[in-house]
Amino acid sequence: MADATGNQDSKDYGLGIPQKTEGFFLKGCGNLEWGMKDRLSRIFNKKSGRTVMLAFDHGYIMGPTSGLERMDLTIVPLIEHADCIMCTRGALRQIVPASSNKPISLRASAGSTVLTDLNDECLLDIEECIRVNASMLALMVAIGSKYEALTIRNLTTMVDQGSRYGIPVLGVTAVGKELVRDARYLSLATRVCAENGAHIIKTYYCSPDFEKVVAACPVPIVIAGGKKLPELEALQMAFEAIDQGAAGVDMGRNVFQAEHPVAMIQAVKAVVHDNLKPKDAFALYNDLKNKKS
Ligand code: R5P
Repeated sequence: MADATGNQDSKDYGLGIPQKTEGFFLKGCGNLEWGMKDRLSRIFNKKSGRTVMLAFDHGYIMGPTSGLERMDLTIVPLIEHADCIMCTRGALRQIVPASSNKPISLRASAGSTVLTDLNDECLLDIEECIRVNASMLALMVAIGSKYEALTIRNLTTMVDQGSRYGIPVLGVTAVGKELVRDARYLSLATRVCAENGAHIIKTYYCSPDFEKVVAACPVPIVIAGGKKLPELEALQMAFEAIDQGAAGVDMGRNVFQAEHPVAMIQAVKAVVHDNLKPKDAFALYNDLKNKKS
């Protein structure tokens, strides 16, 4: 117990040494509240300023996607290699060991499936997000679709709720089949998400001009992997995105549908955090996969 009597006189005032005011390592996040910065620092590696998020939330709209039929068998071994996991609350409680202690980007919007109209979504209760200790709240924002207004309203609501509790929001740009994933569209979609308060944006890589998409977006961008590509091509895409300013990947199918997913996520990490060239990362992938039984 602190004792009021016999205290030593205070003397170490560090006079003449200005108190350090730490900046923050993520673009556009310097003015966020402490809790937000703490959560973002769990998701993004402070040294590289980047993240490898493992996305396996596909089942919420697609059902048992290839590679996700038995997430206990296919996803759990990948978790230790990810910087952050992106999943639904269902998957979290059903298969993710709570002792994994990974930051969670929680799929916080839901509403329709591939069988009907995508993106007609509502939001999870913020208390539920806090209950599962979400480090980030992810929701669809469908710019240019019939649900544009609804999903932008969802974004503003989620940003308001997340801000109340210091939880950042990941705006996921949902690009409908009728839209072209080019720099012009992706710049518009990512910028709209950022201006409406999203702290991090997930979008697709495009060529040419991805660097312009990144430049015009005032907060960090992570790229989705999209449909399964041959491993070297997926590593090439990750490399180009990082090289042009992406702050990481939020990759699903190109990891868990790879021939050797554990080797693949490690190769992706080497690209994202260590700037490994695609051919070297592919060599690493082959090396790691041959070490597996
Ligand atoms: C889409 O429903 C989800 O948000 C996925 O997490 C996202 O598309 C990333 O996964 P993939 O790398 O497979 O595109």
